[in-house]
Amino acid sequence: MNLKTSYSSLKDKVVFVLGGSTGIGATLVEEFAKQGSKVAFVGRNEEASNELIESLKECSFVPKFYKCDITDLKSLEAVIEEVIKSIGDMSVLLNNAANDERHEFLDTTHEYFDWEYQTNLRPHVFTAKAVIKSMIKLGGGSVINVGSIGWMRKNEKTILYGVFKSSLHGLTHGLAKRFGKDRIRVNTLVPGWTMTKKQIEVHLDEEGEKKIKEGQCLPDKVLPEDIANAALFLASDDSKMITSQDIVVDGGWT
Ligand SMILES: NC(=O)c1ccc[n+]([C@@H]2O[C@H](COP(=O)([O-])OP(=O)(O)OC[C@H]3O[C@@H](n4cnc5c(N)ncnc54)[C@H](O)[C@@H]3O)[C@@H](O)[C@H]2O)c1
Repeated sequence: MNLKTSYSSLKDKVVFVLGGSTGIGATLVEEFAKQGSKVAFVGRNEEASNELIESLKECSFVPKFYKCDITDLKSLEAVIEEVIKSIGDMSVLLNNAANDERHEFLDTTHEYFDWEYQTNLRPHVFTAKAVIKSMIKLGGGSVINVGSIGWMRKNEKTILYGVFKSSLHGLTHGLAKRFGKDRIRVNTLVPGWTMTKKQIEVHLDEEGEKKIKEGQCLPDKVLPEDIANAALFLASDDSKMITSQDIVVDGGWT
């Protein structure tokens, strides 16, 4: 898809994507790179990341991949330090990584709770902490926490995922107030059911198609590009007075 909007304020900005190897994250890496941003991303899937980088070889700055399991905070913090040292202070953070594994609440073990927390909330908090320190040095920045409509729609198969996804809104509001004086904006970008390869191959079935038709106001499916377009706007200076908000891209489902 060709972007209709080119954001001059994103050119040469250092953009950090948490979880950029596949899905929406990969589209974020692609679209920010096409805007001329200097994109660094973490993920686990080396093969998918290398393919993504190969497809972006023509960009003014070819995105840099750092292999890292985000449940390992020490490694994650070391990556952020390395990105700042080698590429520069960060202007944009896309707190995107997550795992929406289906689970039965009554089977929840202590270990499973810890894994959900270590995947869907803890890395986002510590990434924000490290990146915001970098943004303060630059005199501003944009933090985008990627939420979900799942808990808003009362999805009973992803209750713990919903617990941590909804917590991101608290993180957004607190950080927006605490660092607004530093001109750091913090928003939650909330995707609807977005048609990534994984969602289409693993989760979308006839019943799902029916739910989308009944739930959304708009007839078309939400695509990763739709989420990326909103992220570009929220990261750019065009949204310079927007902070502490939820921007929902769900075709009017919620
Ligand atoms: N696709 C949807 O329908 C949908 C709907 C609502 C919200 N979202 C949100 O959008 C964001 C992206 O979702 P997606 O559908 O692209 O998911 P995805 O599973 O396809 O991608 C998530 C990314 O996070 C990475 N990741 C997960 N655990 C990791 C770990 N331990 N270490 C390193 N990387 C890890 C994955 O490798 C991947 O790059 C998530 O925050 C998700 O909650 C997606």
